[in-house]
Amino acid sequence: MDGATMPLRLASLVLASLPLVALAQNDPVEDLLAKMSLEEKIGQLSQLSIQNTLTGPVIDQGEPTQMPVTLVGSVLGASSAQATRQLQEQVINGSRLRIPLLFAYDVVHGFRTVFPVPLALASAWDPDLAQRTARVAAIEATASGVHWTFAPMVDISRDPRWGRVVEGAGEDPFLGSALAAALVHGFKGSGAPDISSMLATAKHFVAYGAAEGGRDYNVADLSERTLREVYLPPFQAAVAAGVDAIMPAFNELAGVPMNSHTALLTGLLRKQWGFAGLLVSDFNAVWELGPQGIAATPADTARLAFNAGVDIEMASQSYRQHLPTLVRNGQVSRKNLDDAVRRVLKAKQRLGLFDDPYRYSDEARERASQLTPQHRALAREAAQKSIVLLKNNDALLPLSKQPGKVLVVGSLASDASATIGPWAGAAHPEDSVTVLQGLRNALAPGTQITYLPGASPISQHLQDITLVEKVARDSDLIIAVLGETAEQSGESHSRADLGLPGGQIALLGSLLKTGKPLVIVLMNGRPLVLDASVQQAHALLETWFLGSETGNAVADVLFGDVNPSGKLPMTFPRHVGQIPIYYAHKNTGRPPSGDGSYASAYIDVPWTPLYPFGFGLSYTSFSYSSPRLSHTRLASTQTLGVEVTVTNTGKRAGDEIVQLYLRDDVASVTRPVRRLRGFRKIYLAPGESRSVSFSLDQRDFALLDEHFSPKVEAGSFTVFVGPDSTTTNQAHFEVSDKRQLPIPGQSVPVAVLD
Ligand code: GLC
Repeated sequence: MDGATMPLRLASLVLASLPLVALAQNDPVEDLLAKMSLEEKIGQLSQLSIQNTLTGPVIDQGEPTQMPVTLVGSVLGASSAQATRQLQEQVINGSRLRIPLLFAYDVVHGFRTVFPVPLALASAWDPDLAQRTARVAAIEATASGVHWTFAPMVDISRDPRWGRVVEGAGEDPFLGSALAAALVHGFKGSGAPDISSMLATAKHFVAYGAAEGGRDYNVADLSERTLREVYLPPFQAAVAAGVDAIMPAFNELAGVPMNSHTALLTGLLRKQWGFAGLLVSDFNAVWELGPQGIAATPADTARLAFNAGVDIEMASQSYRQHLPTLVRNGQVSRKNLDDAVRRVLKAKQRLGLFDDPYRYSDEARERASQLTPQHRALAREAAQKSIVLLKNNDALLPLSKQPGKVLVVGSLASDASATIGPWAGAAHPEDSVTVLQGLRNALAPGTQITYLPGASPISQHLQDITLVEKVARDSDLIIAVLGETAEQSGESHSRADLGLPGGQIALLGSLLKTGKPLVIVLMNGRPLVLDASVQQAHALLETWFLGSETGNAVADVLFGDVNPSGKLPMTFPRHVGQIPIYYAHKNTGRPPSGDGSYASAYIDVPWTPLYPFGFGLSYTSFSYSSPRLSHTRLASTQTLGVEVTVTNTGKRAGDEIVQLYLRDDVASVTRPVRRLRGFRKIYLAPGESRSVSFSLDQRDFALLDEHFSPKVEAGSFTVFVGPDSTTTNQAHFEVSDKRQLPIPGQSVPVAVLD
């Protein structure tokens, strides 16, 4: 019998009969739970999108229905102190038990101050920087009443056709895991009840980035080994970092939709990893179990999702409509329901909302904390460090700030929306510094700058191309800002053709004819296929979508106030036909790098990437000594020391991201030709040398054997240390014995699909 169905007088008699010790131990959450009706409990497991609350239609099994906000436990999308306070007041004053709302929002790479999109930030290979940006995002968002962010997005992807690569950390689980943990720490800060601490969500669980064909929402169908070695680790890292929620993805995995995947949601996350946080579906994903063909009725979608482990339904309302009946007819257990509601109430308790439901919605703090000079300075630093120099023929860059007459061309140069990219929080594009503005800010007064859009990514139309060619011929320098708009990247924006879209290639052809010094500044949300004409530019700068300080950061690098240090977190293919293409590939029995024609390669395109994972140039140069190892042979329980000396052999100071890769040369299962197992960013003055050291242990030597049992096997290993994933700077060592693991400190996922 639920609390509210028991007459209050009888309930008070029951309570009075409890021994004092029981009363003394009463937990407010348990007290509340005992009072809640079934509908009130299920309301806590329902979330509404802001545009669908109050009077707006709610997507409910595909049909618009109305829904008062007092019947749900959380709301998605309220993004101001005023709006969150207003909604909170409605719930506190308009509901029987006055349970505060949780306000959720996609605070992915900033709130009002926007930082580089995650794929850009991953190019900085700087977990501390990532954590600092997430901390500022949380400070700004919580002042507006946001309790819960649906970030970090930790999906690994090896397919740039997928629009959402922009939101993640690229192709590598080691780099991705380091950044996942850093972002979780940043969003949480010192943790509740600090009012700048937000609940963080690792999404989208799991293998969403393996969508077949790179087509968003498509099926993921991959081996258990790849699931465990590539797609699960960043979620493990997020759980170890204390993430508060996990969001099952839209996709199915090998025939089982993630929102009804009991083995992974309950079997792995809850039972094996011990994850005690919230599981929140993605938007209509519960309802989508119908179109996915595993639920015959809306009630089935609610039953399947809830029994698989999904606590909260985000936008569709299957839970609210059908769970009451499912609980009453025993198809959903009351215990599981109470466990889910308890997790929601405990999250609210942790945030201090039962003490003060309005503590986060603070208009004064909101005004004082957003877009401050300090936050802008961090945005500029993050943007500078996210820029990757891909090409710099004849050391054209850095440019003089008095380069003569400058032509800036390409519609993206003045596109403020492009600077903030997809999922830009509560940003106002007009707060952003465009590339054109940044150039104007930096160039010497009196420099003649002409800006002509010329072409855009969204139209084949060429604008004033005759004028563009005339001005180009009369200029001393051309800066072409080319790439994608923010809308050509992100959710439901997959592309089958990764070339420069619209009329940009045609524009480029016109510019190249002039023979003038040409710098291309790329603004894009994914690795692109940069065709021959792009390759003819003298200099090529990958700037992604850099956020509020885009223009200033691009100028800082172009004119040499900052020496670029970014390295690619994702491989750039030569041709879309090479996809999936990634550095941690297998050697095969006929290695593509082998000679002869019977090798695993193409007859029409080189098999190698255009730009490899980890690649990025500098305005200076660095040399590496051969790796020095503490052992040439060691036991599996020992730690291997690896040391290299890096020297700045150029004339400018600069940062270098030193990367360490490891290959298990022979094992009981095939292993990638190399895997990233360490990275370190160092700053060197011209001529300066520094020793950089790493240590490797059983967690690095380990593999999952053919039965997915974690172990270290005896045998030879090769360690590579260098500037990117193609380095041949190597040394060899042997592990002398084999050992069964669990790997200490890691809840290693064991068989998840059995
Ligand atoms: C979207 C996205 C998810 C986001 C959610 C709420 O469909 O898949 O990443 O958190 O809806 O906006």
